[in-house]
Amino acid sequence: MRQQLSLTLTRPRGGQLLAVLTDTSARALREQGVRKEQERQRATLQQALEAAQAANQARSAFFASMSHELRSPMHAVASFAKLGRDRSEAAPREKLQRYFENIDNSAERLTRLLNDLLDLAKIEAGKMSYTFEPQDLAAMLRSLVGEFEAMARERQVQLRLQCDLPPPLLRADALRLRQAFANLLSNAIRFSPPNTSVTIELAEARRPDGAAALVARVIDEGPGIAPEDLGVVFDRFVQSGGNRAGGTGLGLPITQEIVAAHGGAVTARNRPGGGAEFQLEIPLEGPPPAGSDRRAG
Ligand SMILES: Nc1ncnc2c1ncn2[C@@H]1O[C@H](COP(=O)(O)OP(=O)(O)OP(=O)(O)O)[C@@H](O)[C@H]1O
Ligand SMILES: [Mg+2]
Repeated sequence: MRQQLSLTLTRPRGGQLLAVLTDTSARALREQGVRKEQERQRATLQQALEAAQAANQARSAFFASMSHELRSPMHAVASFAKLGRDRSEAAPREKLQRYFENIDNSAERLTRLLNDLLDLAKIEAGKMSYTFEPQDLAAMLRSLVGEFEAMARERQVQLRLQCDLPPPLLRADALRLRQAFANLLSNAIRFSPPNTSVTIELAEARRPDGAAALVARVIDEGPGIAPEDLGVVFDRFVQSGGNRAGGTGLGLPITQEIVAAHGGAVTARNRPGGGAEFQLEIPLEGPPPAGSDRRAG
């Protein structure tokens, strides 16, 4: 900053002309500092305001989607119960059976949705608790594949688990990690056309920071994800390209939270030959202890 001088001329009564030269640079510098600080505070306030508005919009959109998702199965339960009550005397047995099946399916969907919402609430409140213990991921995936065998067979989809090595143990929360893989597997089966395969590949890997990790890929031969949706499928209530197929759009955001809590990452991509691929990379030793920097060690 250039030096600033101020010249004041005064003539005390009857006296001589007095010239006072003052260096005002320091004051100007102080004022400039104050102005800069005010501008910075204004910008921070503006940012906070915009963030609050965005959060508000997201919250409204969330409640709108949630109300819609809750209302549809509730409506189905109420309507089929009413139909059954009104026609219990006259309707054929098979018809009544169908009403009960619809009630059962909708109630199951409601339960799943409420469980997912409960998980999201826990995540938001930072209250999702994890118990990290050494786990055999290959064994967990084998048992999960067994659990999904019936759903896959019903859709004429073949399930395959490829794991050439006895993988090292992984420090993980067994229930939560199983929940993450269950969502990926149910998505893959749901979007698979008949006579195709869903493959889970499991391999060892080294992360860029040198940490040993396991990489699991869930690969299907379905339609894949619309390229413009690849970046948002992990957002809440997002269902890509009208690919609803009976879901709610909460599975992937919960999966992402669970994997992140393990210190890992989940990514989605479309395979060059068609189909979607979800990859999980999880460090063997689980998340770094709070407050530590993995790279330092
Ligand atoms: N394997 C896949 N192939 C094609 N699209 C997929 C696949 N997996 C996920 N998607 C897209 O991502 C969306 C979000 O998946 P997500 O698991 O979050 O929700 P959902 O399966 O629809 O419902 P939920 O898991 O809550 O029951 C899906 O609705 C679908 O559009
Ligand atoms: Mg899902």
